[in-house]
Amino acid sequence: MALKLKTALCLLSVIAIGLVVFRITFLDYSGCFLGQSSSAYDSEENNNVLFARRLNWSIEPFLTAKTKLSEDAFNWWKLIQMEKRDFAVYKATVSKLFEIFPPTPDLGKACSARCRTCAVVGNSANLKGSGYGRLIDYQDVIIRMNFGPTKGYEKDVGTRTTYRVMYPESAMDLNNSTHLVLFPFKIQDLDWLIKAFTTGFSGRSYAAVKSKIKANKDLVKVINPAFMMYSHKIWLEGKGTYPSTGFMTVILALHICDEVQVFGYGADSDGNWSHYFEVLRNKNFKTGIHPGKHEHEILQQLAYEKTVKLYQGL
Ligand SMILES: *[C@@H]1O[C@H](CO)[C@@H](O)[C@H](O)[C@H]1NC(C)=O
Ligand SMILES: *[C@@H]1O[C@H](CO)[C@@H](O)[C@H](O)[C@H]1NC(C)=O
Ligand SMILES: *[C@@H]1O[C@H](CO)[C@@H](O)[C@H](O)[C@H]1NC(C)=O
Ligand SMILES: *[C@@H]1O[C@H](CO)[C@@H](O)[C@H](O)[C@H]1NC(C)=O
Repeated sequence: MALKLKTALCLLSVIAIGLVVFRITFLDYSGCFLGQSSSAYDSEENNNVLFARRLNWSIEPFLTAKTKLSEDAFNWWKLIQMEKRDFAVYKATVSKLFEIFPPTPDLGKACSARCRTCAVVGNSANLKGSGYGRLIDYQDVIIRMNFGPTKGYEKDVGTRTTYRVMYPESAMDLNNSTHLVLFPFKIQDLDWLIKAFTTGFSGRSYAAVKSKIKANKDLVKVINPAFMMYSHKIWLEGKGTYPSTGFMTVILALHICDEVQVFGYGADSDGNWSHYFEVLRNKNFKTGIHPGKHEHEILQQLAYEKTVKLYQGL
């Protein structure tokens, strides 16, 4: 026990010293915490920080008309939901995508004049009664997920939404100033996006999916399958089938924000993995097919090393 404690303390001080060096190096460079300064992060002192070891700026989070997906990434992506169609169909669908949506989605350049702060808002029941609404609304960029509502929950979750990440089954209509960020898990998800903005989607292979969506098409962004593979292979070291949307959204925020505050992740004070806006029906749900426990450990490590600030309710 004593030995364990000693080891832990030793590790703690090593990390603490590392962090001080890391912050000083970085703050000297640009004044923001998470910036795209490879020199600061590549230095040896910072190698004990998860952020520095795993983050790879060269992975593009969003697809552009110029993105060249590797065959390797396509083969990883096609297995996550058993895609049967081949790479040629994928490529043809992606080129159709960029006839409708912006071919070079704006990243909202991180770290220009000042730090761009982001709130990543998950849907955990630990938001209930948290009173985080004002703190969330105070951030420059607010990223929400799937159905997570604001109406009726403003005090705890805030009001503004800059980005809403979704997949077809979790889609909802958006305010004209909100960016729709699609996580595609199969080619049909890309088809759905095109049709939901044009003719309407009428395929029957989804259980329940909106045929049309109201959102600003100039603000649509599609996650790069290579970014999903990187979230899985690098950030989760390949554990589980593939990462949850919530986990990939935190990694996305590390790439596009200068400061990341995370709300509404994890279980509530009783250990329930439920949503703030609905009663949990299946108590054994836990985190489904996603490696939830491991994802949570990574998130806590990121919070511990001060890469993100994690708010877990009362
Ligand atoms: C970052 O990703 C690129 C593209 O996959 C890869 O070539 C490069 O080796 C990676 N860099 C590091 C430091 O892992
Ligand atoms: C969209 O939401 C913002 C607040 O996030 C609000 O100020 C604006 O009026 C809304 N726009 C529309 C078209 O509803
Ligand atoms: C929505 O936003 C776009 C700019 O992105 C603007 O051109 C358009 O007029 C807006 N539509 C409405 C209904 O506010
Ligand atoms: C956790 O779930 C149980 C059973 O549904 C419920 O009684 C309890 O109030 C929940 N805990 C919180 C903090 O909401």
